[in-house]
Amino acid sequence: MLLSHTSLPLPLLRRGKVRDVYEVDAERLLIVASDRVSAFDIVMAEAIPDKGMVLTQITAWWLRQMAPLVRHHLLSDDAVAICSDLPELAPHLEELTGRAMLCVRADVFPVECVMRGYISGSAWKEYASTGTMAGEPLARALVESSRLPAPIFTPATKAHTGHDENITVDRLRAIVGTETAAELERLTRLIYDFGQGLAGERGIIIADTKVEFGYLANASAAVEEFDPARVILVDEVLTPDSSRFWPADRYAPGGPQPSFDKQPLRDYLEAERAACRWNGEDPPPPLPEEVITATSERYLDIYRRLTHARPDTGALI
Ligand SMILES: Nc1ncnc2c1ncn2[C@@H]1O[C@H](COP(=O)(O)OP(=O)(O)OP(=O)(O)O)[C@@H](O)[C@H]1O
Ligand SMILES: [Mg+2]
Repeated sequence: MLLSHTSLPLPLLRRGKVRDVYEVDAERLLIVASDRVSAFDIVMAEAIPDKGMVLTQITAWWLRQMAPLVRHHLLSDDAVAICSDLPELAPHLEELTGRAMLCVRADVFPVECVMRGYISGSAWKEYASTGTMAGEPLARALVESSRLPAPIFTPATKAHTGHDENITVDRLRAIVGTETAAELERLTRLIYDFGQGLAGERGIIIADTKVEFGYLANASAAVEEFDPARVILVDEVLTPDSSRFWPADRYAPGGPQPSFDKQPLRDYLEAERAACRWNGEDPPPPLPEEVITATSERYLDIYRRLTHARPDTGALI
């Protein structure tokens, strides 16, 4: 079922570029990944078949793998169980199946926690012009897409509009506090190392990834002291939307890498812009059917490779 947006009988807290977030009660949220797709920070008019399910199922799969290592927000991704818990959702079972997550509600830290194992994207641009990454000098002689001598934590602020802004770890400390910053970095490294190890066995390089964390409020605590046990992993985790996934067998540093995910879409949009048929702003040009299909195939391919789902199963779950 192709789904551009949802309209559920719960208070809508936020419609992001991809997810619709509903309030269930003071402690829980329902996060529904639609099939919307964005590129260059613009949401396309067309939806991508299976994309929402792929994002939710990859996130849920990783969270299950990582449960012994990291506390997280997922309570259930079983739409039948969610609908029996919240009967008002029962008429929406079909649209929730595979793409909805019932989650613990947390106060999300206003930062993006990014780990980079390879130099690409905005980090490559910074290094190419100043020789630094997140403001710190880096070894010389790196080329585009080089593997870094060791993965680097490069936090960013969350921009409400436009691009996120990279910040130094000092700035992160000033925003969230020293102890929290240390815990966010520790957890981000753990998640990246775990993800990179497991994906590596499946022929996928995770060049970089972004995670978000939240803090569980504790109304009964008399003194507000930082408690690392209340930091939880939220949002989507190690998906093609939050990470750069590269096929390991085609890895060739010295230029941009072919990636799973939105490459056909980005290529199409770049070509439209180059041909002066699109000015790079909203509204985007209409997408041809083959671009939609190719993008959908990319998402399904990464899902199958990563989770070892059988390619011949039509349904994702
Ligand atoms: N457990 C949670 N508690 C509270 N908020 C959460 C939780 N998990 C995720 N969120 C928030 O829900 C939103 C998910 O929506 P989505 O990913 O579509 O939007 P976004 O990435 O913030 O913005 P956009 O995609 O529009 O740039 C994010 O703002 C995220 O911080
Ligand atoms: Mg998001």
